Amino acid sequence: MTTNNDSGDIVVLGGTGKTGRRLVPALRAAGHRVRPVSRSTGTRFDWADEDTWPAVLDGATALYLVPGPPELAEPFVRQATEAGVRRLVALSGRGMDAYDPDLFPAVAAAERAVRGSGVEWSIIRANNFNQNFDEDYWHAPLRAGRLALPTGGVPEPFVDVRDIADVAAVLLTTEGHHGREYDLSGPRALTFEEAVATIAAAAGREIRFVELTPAEYRSELLAEGLPEDAVTELGLVFEVMRAGHLAEVADGVRRVLGRDPLPFTDYATRAAATGAWS
Ligand SMILES: NC(=O)c1ccc[n+]([C@@H]2O[C@H](COP(=O)([O-])OP(=O)(O)OC[C@H]3O[C@@H](n4cnc5c(N)ncnc54)[C@H](OP(=O)(O)O)[C@@H]3O)[C@@H](O)[C@H]2O)c1
Repeated sequence: MTTNNDSGDIVVLGGTGKTGRRLVPALRAAGHRVRPVSRSTGTRFDWADEDTWPAVLDGATALYLVPGPPELAEPFVRQATEAGVRRLVALSGRGMDAYDPDLFPAVAAAERAVRGSGVEWSIIRANNFNQNFDEDYWHAPLRAGRLALPTGGVPEPFVDVRDIADVAAVLLTTEGHHGREYDLSGPRALTFEEAVATIAAAAGREIRFVELTPAEYRSELLAEGLPEDAVTELGLVFEVMRAGHLAEVADGVRRVLGRDPLPFTDYATRAAATGAWS
């Protein structure tokens, strides 16, 4: 495979986020010029402040699109292609064809924007990340010793963000992926109960998993002070999961990287060693 990105920079939205900050070193290690951006980077990017967009896009030839406000996806992608971006890789979610895409408007708008861009594009449709357990919404409950969710006992093959970053690096820098969607999962589906047991064993402490009804989950999140729209979105994530739309193992990591995805047990051991759940 050949690279066609020798002439310009690769812009990484969400450059400080879970996938972006792993993608940046992967691209640099392969010799590419990379511009990680977010509201807290030197070259500042804020979806809500269009004055920040031109400097982000200046001299760029490829872009990793972490979804932002749905109504801004198309205008931002248009500006990107007008500025010279010729290849787009969008991060999206698993199962998007199986349910109403408007349930998750940000990822749906990102997908629509890259498809309509008129330049090369590909889409990553990822399962829930392993790193949600130590860097995002499930971290605090696990540290507190109790994770309570409405999963219906349906398993999910959680995916490691290191696999997503490695796949995104290939899609951004090599030919042959235009117009393709890649479903990315881990190597094996496991229930949240199994995932929590794996984490508890790796952390060497007791952590309980508690199955909730959707209504109980909603009440718990609202009582914790989460905003209404975040509570609704998390409820939808579990609705889609309980319906089985995220349950099957996918072959995207192997198709792009020619290797198996990273196992959950390796993730749990690594994160526990950093003291994530101590
Ligand atoms: N988490 C999952 O399991 C999962 C699975 C599949 C798909 N997805 C999708 O992936 C996307 C990213 O989710 P994530 O959990 O991985 O988030 P993330 O990338 O870990 O964090 C969000 C990133 O966006 C930046 N950001 C936040 N607000 C911004 C703004 N107004 N303007 C510019 N940058 C902004 C943040 O940096 P600053 O705070 O520095 O701005 C951060 O770098 C979402 O659309 C989600 O639906 C997530």
